[in-house]
Amino acid sequence: MQQQQPLPAHIASLTDQDAHALVNRLREQLGKDTIILGHHYQRDEVIQHADFTGDSLKLARIARDSKAKNIIFCGVHFMAETADILTGGERFVSLPDLGAGCDMADMAEVRDVADSWLEATKAGAKNIIPVTYINSSAALKAFVGKNGGIICTSSNAKAVITWALEKGNHVFFFPDQHLGRNIAKGLGFDPARDMLLWDPKKPLGGHSAETIASKKIWLWKGHCPVHALFTVHQVKKIRETSPETKILVHPECAMEIVDISDLSGSTDYIIKTVEASPAGSKWAIGTEKHLVERLAAQHPDKTITSLNPFTCLCGTMNRISLHNLAWVLDGLVNGEHYNQIKVLPDMANDSMAALNRMFELS
Ligand code: 13P
Ligand code: SF4
Repeated sequence: MQQQQPLPAHIASLTDQDAHALVNRLREQLGKDTIILGHHYQRDEVIQHADFTGDSLKLARIARDSKAKNIIFCGVHFMAETADILTGGERFVSLPDLGAGCDMADMAEVRDVADSWLEATKAGAKNIIPVTYINSSAALKAFVGKNGGIICTSSNAKAVITWALEKGNHVFFFPDQHLGRNIAKGLGFDPARDMLLWDPKKPLGGHSAETIASKKIWLWKGHCPVHALFTVHQVKKIRETSPETKILVHPECAMEIVDISDLSGSTDYIIKTVEASPAGSKWAIGTEKHLVERLAAQHPDKTITSLNPFTCLCGTMNRISLHNLAWVLDGLVNGEHYNQIKVLPDMANDSMAALNRMFELS
């Protein structure tokens, strides 16, 4: 990945107030040709400038359907890559800080996936359907597309995994073991009987050929470090101290937590659930801090807290700052294209096959 360059002094030295004013001015100059997309985990100082906010599925659809020449993606790297793929590489897609990766996506290197795939097929496994969470590199999406697989987000994982389970003898799910396990369990599969955890550091993922042949669902050993900060203990504590509080978590949390929570769903689902709840409702939410704090501020008639009383921050999402956004827009006005995210055409084509399968289902 390219390195983020330091911001030039004329941008870095701006006060927040001046940076907001600059962003507003530049956006007026750029007009409808430039859109800003903001994931729900972005800082308030950034999200307030977004034309569209959403979860990863909603933002992917907006990028795909938009006619804007420039898409400034305030999110993480895989989201900007997906936008470039979905727009046929014909737009300028920019990620305002190149350090905004996704730690979970980095846990499934395509070379490791390809090695594991080869091992599994050499061991006799047949008709394996690869499924990758959209939180993955374009290289992995392309591998999945080439091998007849599909992509999912946390919003449509149920429909996608159902499709894959019906199609194959085995579903190989990357990179989030928790999302895969939670969804498959919700579909009636037993984690002990039907699933295995594939550790790419071990031969055959740490299993015998007989074991892999007997399990329907293979879960790659990846996870989100932010959602790993939620624990069963925190849920129990809320149950003891505030039994009327409902617990709502993202499906990237571990199964033990999802099982004892009241509700689980994508960031859009979390927002809609809170919005639809009556005044006076109490919620403990298991997801990234910016979204939880924003919900609390937007719903003063409800009690909204984080399930984890300490900070659960996605450090990579948090890298996108107001000043980075101002810098990219300032560049555009001056004919410069900073931080373009570009996927190689062959990789984009193969990824598109897997993305199209997803869009057919959701
Ligand atoms: P959503 O699709 O629910 O927005 O999730 C994206 C993500 O990265 C959560 O950690
Ligand atoms: Fe990736 Fe987790 Fe951050 Fe989401 S919250 S972008 S899965 S590291």
